[in-house]
Amino acid sequence: MDKKIIIAIDGFSSCGKSTFAKQIAKKLNYLFIDSGAMYRAVTLAFKQHGIIQDGKIDSSRYKQTLQEIEVGFSLNKSKGVYEITLDGTVVENEIRKPEIANCVSIVAAIAEVRERMVDLQRKLGEQKGIVMDGRDIGTVVFPNAELKIFMTADPKIRAERRLKELVEKGINITMEEVLENIRERDHLDQTREVSPLRKAEDAVILDNSHMTVDEQMEWVENLVNSRIH
Ligand code: DC
Repeated sequence: MDKKIIIAIDGFSSCGKSTFAKQIAKKLNYLFIDSGAMYRAVTLAFKQHGIIQDGKIDSSRYKQTLQEIEVGFSLNKSKGVYEITLDGTVVENEIRKPEIANCVSIVAAIAEVRERMVDLQRKLGEQKGIVMDGRDIGTVVFPNAELKIFMTADPKIRAERRLKELVEKGINITMEEVLENIRERDHLDQTREVSPLRKAEDAVILDNSHMTVDEQMEWVENLVNSRIH
């Protein structure tokens, strides 16, 4: 029988990590976890509690709120996917809004937030059979993951993809704004002090600038087979 493994997918924002990770999980019948959604849910909670104002964190109050909130996942049976919850309520749509995207990097840079999310991520991976995407999955969360992939793509192509997604959701935003947000997030993700985005030494690079999801699946198939047998 195939052994169950952990697949860690890291990389820049809007590279299609979640779509790719979801497809792999579906193919292997694994659990898919979008770790970015967890940082977005904390950001939403901080906004709701008035802890983020004018793009700044109220440092006297965030620890208390972090203790009180509950971030989790619940199975959407009709879609067959796990959706992010905040205090028991599904917040998939709320966390994708630009006002969350604009603040999430500062929340993800807080050491206590990361500690709490990493604990939760490791618990979710205890049984293996999981595909998790994020920024520090192969470096910090699961340094012993059997397969690590580092995804990258041209920023302009990533901005075009993100714009399409947002427009489909009825969100009014320009290409320049999306590109600016992507560049700023790349910079913050790579330069933050705690768990910055970087490729794990043993990760395999996937530049999908000019690849379809099917082509990426073809690319990953042999890699997965070599690690599960
Ligand atoms: O993948 P995403 O755009 O949904 O991620 C949202 C933010 O969370 C992004 O600024 C990077 C951060 N993040 C992180 O620091 N560590 C992770 N494992 C996943 C996401």
